[in-house]
Amino acid sequence: MILYSPITFRNLELKNRWVMSPMCMYSSENGLANDFHFVHYASRAQGGTGLIIVEATGVVPEGRITPKCAGLWNDEQTQSFKKIVDFVHQNSESKIGIQLGHAGRKSSTWNGKQLSLEEGWETVAPSKIPYHESERVPHELTIPEIKKLVQDFKDATRRALEAGFDVIEIHAAHGYLIHQFMSPLSNVRNDEYGGSFENRIRFLVEIVDAVNDLLDENHPLFVRISGTEYTENGWSLEESVELAKFLKDKKVDLIDVSSGGNIHGAKITLFDGYQVPLAAEIRKKTGMKTGAVGLIKTAETAEEILEKGEADLILVAREILRNPYLAIQGSFNGKGECDFPHQYDRARI
Ligand SMILES: Cc1cc2nc3c(=O)[nH]c(=O)nc-3n(C[C@H](O)[C@H](O)[C@H](O)COP(=O)(O)O)c2cc1C
Repeated sequence: MILYSPITFRNLELKNRWVMSPMCMYSSENGLANDFHFVHYASRAQGGTGLIIVEATGVVPEGRITPKCAGLWNDEQTQSFKKIVDFVHQNSESKIGIQLGHAGRKSSTWNGKQLSLEEGWETVAPSKIPYHESERVPHELTIPEIKKLVQDFKDATRRALEAGFDVIEIHAAHGYLIHQFMSPLSNVRNDEYGGSFENRIRFLVEIVDAVNDLLDENHPLFVRISGTEYTENGWSLEESVELAKFLKDKKVDLIDVSSGGNIHGAKITLFDGYQVPLAAEIRKKTGMKTGAVGLIKTAETAEEILEKGEADLILVAREILRNPYLAIQGSFNGKGECDFPHQYDRARI
């Protein structure tokens, strides 16, 4: 089975193609990882997952979706993640990465609702356009503020490397700040960060360059994008393909292809593997490695996606919440070889 065969990004080998998709747990105080996070991520390593990607982690406090999101803007946070990373490395063959992000106009929320300025903070965005008309108008970022944010992504990357993470994923999907710059519907700037395709992707490209500056041959860089935002004149699959070509030249190792999130009320038709065609198209048109995500629940479906050449990695979110042992169990049912933790070896038969 391809699903249980290794794959290499730069010099980093993943033992199989199962990836725990990044998932916010809204369980941090001051951005710190705690015992909950330790059990949550460590158990997916015990479950045989090839790569674990830690939840969207704010590069600055105001970049968090909620006040309880994870963060990586200080050294205490670095140490809190290091404990998890060390355990994963010392007790499993799994690799562990982290998703770095900034929520922009979609920050300062709780339960999907914008918080008051007293409970939350002022949001920022490329343009003065709120996500929903009921929300406060975000502060339009100045060019020095944009440059500072690029540096914030770089600083968070340095901390992630200090914590020992293997992979950095930049969150450029789901209508968060980088996506807000990419879409002509949320970015109406008329300086070098708005207008043409090259200008709209400039913020992302500058972050990629800044982050890559710190990454060596053992630390690959992934970028999660929304392959489409399902809205006329919005960010499209065609632009995603162009972006992937560009990022390939910029030494990005994989595009993790999700969708939507930037336009309130956009209609998304859900079906099993609904985002796989986006990953497949990007892979076919650019030769870029892709990750497929979205309603993939079984080893059989995952294997089919890989065999058809639609993606190189399979990301699972809700299914791996239900079953931390998905990789081990899928291997057992599909008769694929999977590393069991040696303590669990008797469960093979
Ligand atoms: C609880 C939860 C939290 C999520 N948080 C994030 C996140 O931090 N970053 C991200 O890119 N996607 C996030 N997502 C989206 C998932 O990574 C994934 O793309 C989506 O759930 C579709 O995959 P699934 O059908 O396997 O759940 C989250 C999803 C869930 C269910």
